[in-house]
Amino acid sequence: MNISFNLNGSATNLEVAPGESLLQALRASRVFSVKLGCETGDCGSCTVLLDGQPVNSCMVVAARVNGSHVTTMEGLLGDDLMIRLQTELVEHGAVQCGYCIPGLLISLYALVKQGPSCGGEIDEEVIRHALTGNLCRCTGYVKPVEAARAVVAAMEVPK
Ligand code: FES
Ligand code: FES
Repeated sequence: MNISFNLNGSATNLEVAPGESLLQALRASRVFSVKLGCETGDCGSCTVLLDGQPVNSCMVVAARVNGSHVTTMEGLLGDDLMIRLQTELVEHGAVQCGYCIPGLLISLYALVKQGPSCGGEIDEEVIRHALTGNLCRCTGYVKPVEAARAVVAAMEVPK
């Protein structure tokens, strides 16, 4: 079937097979920031924004995004907040093998952009909760969390 959706700001038409996942469809379209990991919804390496919300693209049937907005790292490369997150991750030494990083960045981006779903401030606990779906075998999460806290602290308006 043919689907029409907005991919990273551009109207996009794709021919997808019944049951094909959004992850498969994106990678077949050369959107390679979306990583293939577990394909069971457990690792978060395939995280994208679907209508602004982070989702595991391996668990989304591609046909479901017809008429929606899908955003991947490729669509956020010039975004100020994403640049700040990327810079802090690098400066904190939070990028090792890098396989988890695009998905992890998408989750952090959604958190900082939208705030916690329960309201309140973005503290360490909230950041760790936002990353529970993004497995990282290398960093132990300490450095990514520190990097996210640095971004949030820099955005806070002094009282
Ligand atoms: S590949 Fe999608 S959650 Fe692991
Ligand atoms: S940096 Fe290697 S899995 Fe996260």
